Amino acid sequence: MTLPRHVAIIMDGNGRWARERGQLRTAGHKAGVVPVRMCIEECARRRVEALTLFAFSSENWMRPSDEVGSLMGLFMDALDREVEELHAHGVRLRFIGERHALSVRLQSRVAAVEERTAANSGLKLQIAVSYGGRWDILAATRALAARCASGELRPADINESLFAHALALGELPDPDLFIRTGGERRISNFLLWNMAYTELYFTDTLWPDFDVAGLEAALQYFGQRERRFGLTGEQVAGQDS
Ligand code: FPP
Repeated sequence: MTLPRHVAIIMDGNGRWARERGQLRTAGHKAGVVPVRMCIEECARRRVEALTLFAFSSENWMRPSDEVGSLMGLFMDALDREVEELHAHGVRLRFIGERHALSVRLQSRVAAVEERTAANSGLKLQIAVSYGGRWDILAATRALAARCASGELRPADINESLFAHALALGELPDPDLFIRTGGERRISNFLLWNMAYTELYFTDTLWPDFDVAGLEAALQYFGQRERRFGLTGEQVAGQDS
């Protein structure tokens, strides 16, 4: 079966999962750590090159402050608890998003974890925190505009490759497979530029219930897609032979 090189996931449905059990939304986020670990392990085991998880969007700051605080605490705890194991498994961890919006403590923890795992050659794991696709495109545009203003770059030199490298995912390949749990069928300002040709997979399963079989179903779906990147089916068949 053809495996995706890069999987991107919106982990949705924690709040509903908790409500169904008469629990607080924060209990759903806590339960959501289990499938996070499962996806990392499975992707590493199957030699998927990159995994990008949408943990907290630019818009999530508008949630009730106790929920935001609890999520930030969860990220901090997960980092403390898991970093050595991730490192032992060769995972390279990076955060993408507006990191200045995070607390100073979390920012420095994030930087330490990135440094600790920077030389690893296994799974490239990106956690998107305070991330938005539009923010990403604007930040890249500003960076390139600054280089033009300083005379280092000419506007005519800006092409797709240069622009893509200025985005948060940098040199990583675009996601081949996008998974969204929790029943909604939208991209919600995730990797807008990078998902131009990504295969989209949606499941009603709530994130805390997403298990190995659920991930396997998404990978099977991907394996059955014919990816044409704007070409005709006949052209794609010709390339294969
Ligand atoms: C969306 O569900 C989920 C989030 C905003 C948080 C995702 C965070 C985790 C899974 C915690 C673990 C993450 C890491 C990286 C350790 P929702 O709250 O929008 O659910 P709802 O749609 O049912 O309300």
